[in-house]
Amino acid sequence: MNELKGLILSGGKGTRLRPITHTSAKQLVPVANKPVLFYGIEAMVAAGITEIGIIIAPETGDEIRECAGDGSKFGAKITYIPQAEPLGLAHAVLTAEDFIGDAPFVMYLGDNLLREGIVTLTEAFKTNAPDALILLTKVPDPEHYGVAELSDGKVVALAEKPAEPKTDLALVGVYMFTSTIFDAARAIEPSARGELEITDAIQYLVDRGKNVEPHLVDGWWKDTGRLEDMLQANRLVLEDLETRVEGMLDAGSSIEGRVVIEPGAELVRTVVRGPAVIGAGAKLTDAYIGPYTAIDERVVVERAEIEYSIVLADSRISDLGARMEASLIGKHSKIDRTNGMPRTFRLLVGDNCDISLV
Ligand code: TTP
Repeated sequence: MNELKGLILSGGKGTRLRPITHTSAKQLVPVANKPVLFYGIEAMVAAGITEIGIIIAPETGDEIRECAGDGSKFGAKITYIPQAEPLGLAHAVLTAEDFIGDAPFVMYLGDNLLREGIVTLTEAFKTNAPDALILLTKVPDPEHYGVAELSDGKVVALAEKPAEPKTDLALVGVYMFTSTIFDAARAIEPSARGELEITDAIQYLVDRGKNVEPHLVDGWWKDTGRLEDMLQANRLVLEDLETRVEGMLDAGSSIEGRVVIEPGAELVRTVVRGPAVIGAGAKLTDAYIGPYTAIDERVVVERAEIEYSIVLADSRISDLGARMEASLIGKHSKIDRTNGMPRTFRLLVGDNCDISLV
């Protein structure tokens, strides 16, 4: 088999993560202070794939280019492939046809995280040489996913978000294809939601007797497309954290459990209970940071308690009257309290925000 190439899908609309995605790509939201997209790139490099194409959208492409660069920092060569409109995963595949050529390839959704990586899967793909290899995992709510039906260990049918799923086997956002997928993607029609669905393209292969090999994933898999998934992904990645303290703690501060404090971060009379990560240059004063929290670079927290949350770079949170949890705070945000009269809320809230007060 020829050398595998990699294709990461980092376009799309990201409607479910608004308002974060009004100003930034969802694939760049940090999980444990590292952009989701980087986990996919690193998984490919770990599997020996260094020729990587990244699908980008017009709105967020420049930001993704700037962040991932030419790939040299990952030991890879990245080619950016603009997709004019997010017309579906199979459309993204077709957009990448010139880049892929006749090489077999791994397609990885840029907002997905797969704990076990892809090394054993790419090995199975090379050894067994099927026409396609798909990853599956059991989920409690298959109606929200692409769902596969198997018979005698073979894929016999696929359905995209079926109202009445026949199995609980959801398609994980990592696929391996040979170039037969291009003819399939060209042959199918857009679905009811107007997208060229990858499930339809794979079904096309199955219908023509091609060998589509299923693999059940062992470790966890997360699609970070919604807030609750993003928070869970952050928790799962932080579970594997190892303590490293390079910032400064004063005598009144302490850390408990597994905590990373990046260089230049400063803790004053602050308790951090891990697993948690505090980014470079963050300043925490009279604060409590609880488990499963990621505080990004240069964030300032004063007289506030934060737990099970992600706070993006350069935000400032002070004087909260209650503990903040299960929250995602965008870059350069400011949350504070005024003591003057009248006692009012003063909010500058973007579109599609979600705020719960006590
Ligand atoms: P989705 O999360 O299915 O789609 P989306 O990004 O449009 O999000 P939402 O449903 O919240 O509006 O996409 C999975 C991944 O594939 C994600 O990283 C975006 C990417 N993608 C493309 O690159 N091109 C496309 O045409 C589509 C539909 C998705």
